[in-house]
Formats: sequence, structure tokens, C-alpha cells
Amino acid sequence: MPNIQTKELRLKKLPLSLDGYEFKFLATNSKGVSLVYTSFKNRDFFLKISPKKDKILIKYDSLTRLSPVYIIQDALKAFVSLHDIKLCNENIYRKKEFKHIQTPSKYLKSVNFFLKDFTYCDEISIEIGFGSGRHLLYLAKMNPNQQFIGVEIHKPSIEQVIKNCKLQNIDNLLVVDFDARIFLQLLESNTISNIYIHFPIPWDKKPHRRVISEEFVNEAMRVLKQNGKLELRTDSDNYFDYSFKTFMKTSSVDLKIRKNHNLSISSKYEDRWKKQNKNIYDLILTNHTLHDNKNEFTKLEFDRYISFDKIVKKFKNHTIRGKDFFVHFEDIFIIDKDSGILRASFGAYEKPESKYILFKDNKIQYFPDTIIPIDQNLKAHKTIKEFIYE
Ligand SMILES: C[S@@+](CC[C@H](N)C(=O)[O-])C[C@H]1O[C@@H](n2cnc3c(N)ncnc32)[C@H](O)[C@@H]1O
Repeated sequence: MPNIQTKELRLKKLPLSLDGYEFKFLATNSKGVSLVYTSFKNRDFFLKISPKKDKILIKYDSLTRLSPVYIIQDALKAFVSLHDIKLCNENIYRKKEFKHIQTPSKYLKSVNFFLKDFTYCDEISIEIGFGSGRHLLYLAKMNPNQQFIGVEIHKPSIEQVIKNCKLQNIDNLLVVDFDARIFLQLLESNTISNIYIHFPIPWDKKPHRRVISEEFVNEAMRVLKQNGKLELRTDSDNYFDYSFKTFMKTSSVDLKIRKNHNLSISSKYEDRWKKQNKNIYDLILTNHTLHDNKNEFTKLEFDRYISFDKIVKKFKNHTIRGKDFFVHFEDIFIIDKDSGILRASFGAYEKPESKYILFKDNKIQYFPDTIIPIDQNLKAHKTIKEFIYE
């Protein structure tokens, strides 16, 4: 990822701008690490300046990182020019093009899109962890009147599928770069016809990372229409046993099991396991229940401003733990007496999120975007508010 190194940095007074990049202000923590608030075409992120032993490293900040990567690369170039930085190492002027995808794009949608703007239609199917996308692309092509959503966390797979959507003129497929276990919680009840999970990682040594859990199955049943199906396909005996037991824990179960059943399309992983003569199992769970819709999602905002010096006085790196959620106040970065940035990780133990909380211009807000309104985050938000206002 783009970064530069220098032996010396004389920071100029901000704001400064060049080539469409605006460096608005800077915030610094107790270790001398600074975040530079950077804007490009209404997209905001931080560049991070970290003093190391004998050099200074300037790169993207991982929490606010955005794509395509050339935006960060060009932001660094503009920063170098504005500060006349003498570089001792860099990877931003090389010819190599970073061909990363735009977010949002026609195909790649943010989670907020699904919360606010997604139009539910009659036939929606979701594939979780689509990998190379063979199965998902095939289904989308074969069923042009249905809507498909692919949920994946592996960026190269996402890019590959988006590229294929463009090449094959597929118009009924949306992709979201997000943990599927949380994503399902954001969907309306009884709206989805099929949920496919093909060859999930078995995570034998870290079962908490598995997609399938009791909580996940309950959410899947909630979002599925009546007669909607959750289809798990796996080559792992262990994962099959585990999923069978997990499925059987739900209150009412209609489960079909198949062994070595060929589908019309074979995924990349499936080909690999077939070559090794492994057994392949399908577990197909059908929902028959009509579920209530979730209450309207609450907006997770802050109601009033509080000067940042009050936060500085009470801040210490500490964690507050609830039964199913936590908040870890990690760091603070000071802009001036009245404003600054708090960094926190929070939410469900298994699916934590990290965000900055920006205190500036009489507003307190999560940065780079608001937090996802799942139950554990609602509790975490309440705890964060108590810490800020108490
Ligand atoms: C073993 S691969 C299988 C890929 C594809 N389904 C196939 O059959 O070739 C599992 C995929 O699940 C994705 N994955 C793992 N955990 C996930 C999660 N919580 N949410 C979304 N995708 C996830 C991984 O990134 C990976 O691409």
C-alpha cells in the first residue's frame, strides 16, 4: 500500500490544498503520531504520520482507508509537494497502476446503501463468501429477472467478480464488502428467497470465526421468505457435523441433506475437492415461519457538543465490558483545546468494529462513517455516550 518515508518533516500550517486534495487539519496523540484530515471530491480520510526510530513514515490510515488506491497515492504526492519533503523511500511514483475498484460503484454497495436505499424485489438471493464468484455469476446470468447479492470480505475476490459483472454485462448483481454475520442483521424480515454458503472456511481451530452459528441461523431464518432456503455446501466432515447440530437447535427444522450431488456449476473450491475425491455435503434448511420486522433502526448519533479538553482530562486507555458487547477506548488525538479525535473499538466480542469519534466544529460524529445499528453496537453507543457526557 502507498507510503513514503523521510528523515525530516517540517509541517506547514493547515489547511493546504493541491490538485483537488485538501489537507484540512492535523491531530496528534501522546506518542507523536499525527492524523491529517484529507478530503478529495467529498471523500474524507486520514493520512497517518508516524515517527519511527530514524525516519518518519507517512501512509494511509487503515481505519479510514478507501479505494481506489490511487487516491491515497495521489494524496501522498500532493502532501510531499506541499511540504517539499525529501524522500528516503517511497512507493507512490512507480508506474504500476493500482486498479482498485471504486466504492460505491454500480456493483459494489456500502452497508448503508442496504440500510437506506436498497429496493426489495420479489426474488432476492444472497451468496455468502462467493470467492471466485463462479456460482454467483452463473446464477445471476441464468436468472436475469432476479436480484443477487454477494457478500464477501476478501477484496481480490470482490474485484474479480465486479470485473466479471462488467465484462458479462450482468445487471442484477450487487456486491457488499462486509462480514455476512452482521450483514444479515440489517435486512428486512421475510424478504430473501435463497442464502447460499458454499465451502465456508471450516475454522476448526477458531470456531468463533465460522459463519454458521446459532445466532446466524436464526437471523437467516428471519430474513428468509416462507419456503426460502439456506443452502450450505461443504467438503468438511467436521463442518457438516457442526452445522447439522447447529441447525437442529432452531425451534422448528425442515432440513434436507444431500451427499455428492452435482450442481449445474462447480466452484473453484469444489473442483479442488472433487480432484481429491472428497465427499461433498449439502444441508438445505427451509424456513416456514413468518417473522416480525425489526423495529426501525435507530440512528446512532450524539445529541450535543462537549469540549474536547474534558475528554482529554478523563481519558485513559480502558475497556468497558457488557454481557455481549464491549467498548475499548484506545487513544486520543488532539487538534486544539476544544477539538480532537477519540479512537475506540467496540461492539460484539466476535465482530468488533473500530471507529474514530471526531469532536470538531461543535459536532461529535463517528468517522469515517456512522456505526452499523446492530444490537451490540446500540449498547456500545450508549456506553460511549455515557463516557463522553458523564
Ligand atoms: C473457502 S472460500 C469458498 C469460496 C467459494 N464459495 C467457492 O466455493 O469457491 C470461503 C470464502 O468465504 C469468505 N468469508 C469468510 N468469512 C466470511 C464472512 N464472515 N463474511 C463474508 N465472507 C466470508 C472468504 O473470504 C472466502 O472467500
